Amino acid sequence: MAQLWGGRFTKETDQKVYDFNASISFDKRLYRQDIQGSMAHVKMLAKQEILTEEERDQILSGLASILEDVENGKLEITSQYEDIHSFVEANLIQRVGEAGKKLHTGRSRNDQVALDMRLYIRDEVQATDELLARLLKVLLEIMEKHTDTYMPGFTHLQKAQPVTLAHHIGAYFEMFRRDRERLADLYKRMNYCPLGAGALAGTTYPLDRKLTAELLKFTAPTRNSMDSVSDRDYVVDFLSALCLVMMHLSRFSEEIILWNSNEYQFLELDDAYSTGSSIMPQKKNPDIAELVRGKTGRVYGDLMGLLTTMKGIPLAYNKDMQEDKEGVFDAIDTVQNCLELFTGMMDTVVFHPEAMEASAKRGFTNATDVADYLVNKGVPFRDAHGISGRLVLRCIEKNAALDDLSLEEFREESPVFDSDIYQAISMKNCVDKRLTIGAPGKRAMEEEIAQSRSYLEKAGLFS
Ligand code: ARG
Repeated sequence: MAQLWGGRFTKETDQKVYDFNASISFDKRLYRQDIQGSMAHVKMLAKQEILTEEERDQILSGLASILEDVENGKLEITSQYEDIHSFVEANLIQRVGEAGKKLHTGRSRNDQVALDMRLYIRDEVQATDELLARLLKVLLEIMEKHTDTYMPGFTHLQKAQPVTLAHHIGAYFEMFRRDRERLADLYKRMNYCPLGAGALAGTTYPLDRKLTAELLKFTAPTRNSMDSVSDRDYVVDFLSALCLVMMHLSRFSEEIILWNSNEYQFLELDDAYSTGSSIMPQKKNPDIAELVRGKTGRVYGDLMGLLTTMKGIPLAYNKDMQEDKEGVFDAIDTVQNCLELFTGMMDTVVFHPEAMEASAKRGFTNATDVADYLVNKGVPFRDAHGISGRLVLRCIEKNAALDDLSLEEFREESPVFDSDIYQAISMKNCVDKRLTIGAPGKRAMEEEIAQSRSYLEKAGLFS
């Protein structure tokens, strides 16, 4: 055990206590941010003449060499240290001697870990955003190809009205676009620097908190020092944004699973993105989509875990807060992994437009359009609804689609029908008449696609 304290202790820590207390096994992930934060701190200390320039340079080169050695595998982060902060400091002292002992001047591990976490989350917010942007790009490509691919739109999982595949996928495009905006929002809110808050009450050294904030590309220093060391709202914010990403991925996965089933056959997953059965040779299973749907549970759990951990903590720092890490690390890994795989799956999926259109017809999704046809010829909507319903019943009895009925059959229900009914209820016509903003009609959809494309091209959400 190598620890940063000991002066007032007369006994060694019990090994089990030490292990229980230690966080190195998971916070070693923060090594880069820990070193980055220390470098800014030390530059500020020298600028304020708390350290000499020589000491600053020794510390900076020591920290740079630790970073390099960790990255190229020469220096292993082992459990002999309590946490990542002790690891870096101990190694620094080993490398540069006396100057290294001055690094922690005017700092506590409380503001240090608060800083490390902010730097880390900030990086991961951006990495997640890039993955979302990549998914959006793949979705947009599908939309561009399928503005004429007709399919049933569902309500209550019952075929309702015809839409296009472009329109259906476009709904997910909106969800993931909002996810990116949410990330940008929380990034803005969290981008303040807690370094200099000390253990809880600031310090007596003349630290320049604005300078460290600037060096680390934060908007400004955080305000109240007690809040600064005990605020984990941004972790909760990020986790809840990740939960929404998972909720969207999970709903999408559910549809992919349905559409891939023998009953729907709307699509076929690429062999590289599906798996077989050990016993049933005919099977091709959508495991990736199922796992994405399944993993949503653990990400929700990570959010609930942290909310519960935080709810009873008095000001300011308490060790409970060390529990902020594993959950969010797990959520980040899970969401990023899911986004990457889901994007690959969508990039390779093959859609079956004929099956989709046939399904829309068999589901009488143009029954509303039959009624609208009559309304346009002066029949009151309520009567038109009844006539269309009776025609659907005929179709069910003879296992046909509305388009398959003869003009005589139409006329038996209402003399108002003419031969233009077929054109009026074709899938193409039913969809293309829907031209209100956001509707599936081809012109409306092309407008949406153009806007989505320019959004993707210029969405500098973090600039
Ligand atoms: N490992 C600790 C954490 O993650 C670092 C801060 C420790 N501070 C302290 N006063 N013991 O929260």
